[in-house]
Amino acid sequence: MSAAAQIDDLSFSHSGADLPALERVSLLVPAGESIALLGPSGAGKTTLLTLLDGRLRGWRGRVSVLGASLDPDQPPPRVRRPDTGFVFQEFALVERSSVLRNVLNGRLGRMSPLRALLGSPTSHDLEIARRALSDCDISDLAERRADSLSGGQRQRVAIARCLAQEPRLILADEPVSNLDPARAGEILSLLTGAARVRGATALFSSHQPDLARRFAQRIVGMRGGRIVFDVPTSELNEDATAELYREAEPMPGSGLRVVS
Ligand SMILES: Nc1ncnc2c1ncn2[C@@H]1O[C@H](COP(=O)(O)OP(=O)(O)OP(=O)(O)O)[C@@H](O)[C@H]1O
Ligand SMILES: [Mg+2]
Repeated sequence: MSAAAQIDDLSFSHSGADLPALERVSLLVPAGESIALLGPSGAGKTTLLTLLDGRLRGWRGRVSVLGASLDPDQPPPRVRRPDTGFVFQEFALVERSSVLRNVLNGRLGRMSPLRALLGSPTSHDLEIARRALSDCDISDLAERRADSLSGGQRQRVAIARCLAQEPRLILADEPVSNLDPARAGEILSLLTGAARVRGATALFSSHQPDLARRFAQRIVGMRGGRIVFDVPTSELNEDATAELYREAEPMPGSGLRVVS
C-alpha cells in the first residue's frame, strides 16, 4: 500500500506551551482514501494537519508527504507544494474578489511565476477552475464577490479553490463545522467524492463521529496529542469513540481536572 503521508515518532510543542501538542505520533495515511481525524478540543488535530501542510517548524521525528521528507527546520513554501491542498476552517477567501478569482487563486502554484504575479490565468487554468466550480455546484456564483456569500456557499468556494489546485493530498480542518447537519453531509460528500474521482487522498478533522463514519474509510482518534486508535471505519467501536470524548476526571482532593 502506498502512503500519501507517513509520520514516525513525531512530537511537537507550540512555543510557549507547557505541554506538547503532539506526542510520539506515528501514522500512515494510505494513498487514495478518505481519512477522518476525530478527537476532543485540544487533541492536536489542527496542529497535525498544519504540520503536514508544512507550516510548522521545530518538530521532532520523521514526516514525509507524497514521498518527500519534510524538513523540520526549513519546510518549503506552500506555493512550491501545489500537490498538497488545504481547506481552512475559516475559509481564508479574498473577500473583495469574485468567486472565480478566489478559485483561480488555487492555480497560483501551477502557474509560471510571471502569470502568477500578473494574475493572468491560461485557458487551461480557467477550464480547471470552471470545472471545480461546477463540481461544487456554484457555477452560478462565479461573478459574485466572496463577501456577499452565505457560510455554506463560502465553504463550497474554499473547496473549489482547493480542487482547482489539483492536489494529490487534501487536508481539511473541520471543513463542515459551521454548517447544519444536512449541509455538512452534502459538503463532506462533495469533498470526499471529488477526492475519490481525482484519485486524491483526503484527510479531514471533525467533531462529528457520525459524519466521519459516513464519509471516511479510515478513522483516526486523537486525544491529548496522541493517537488513541487508527482503524478502518467498519471496525470503529462505539466505546472507543465515547472514550475519546470522555470528560476529564476530577483529581481527588483538588479542584483540578486531569486529562489522561
Ligand atoms: N499557536 C499556539 N500556541 C500555543 N499553543 C497552541 C497553539 N495552537 C494550539 N495550541 C495548543 O496545542 C494543543 C493542540 O491544539 P489543536 O488546535 O491542534 O487542537 P484541536 O484538536 O485542533 O482542537 P479543536 O478541536 O478545538 O480545534 C492545545 O493544547 C492548544 O492549546
Ligand atoms: Mg482544531
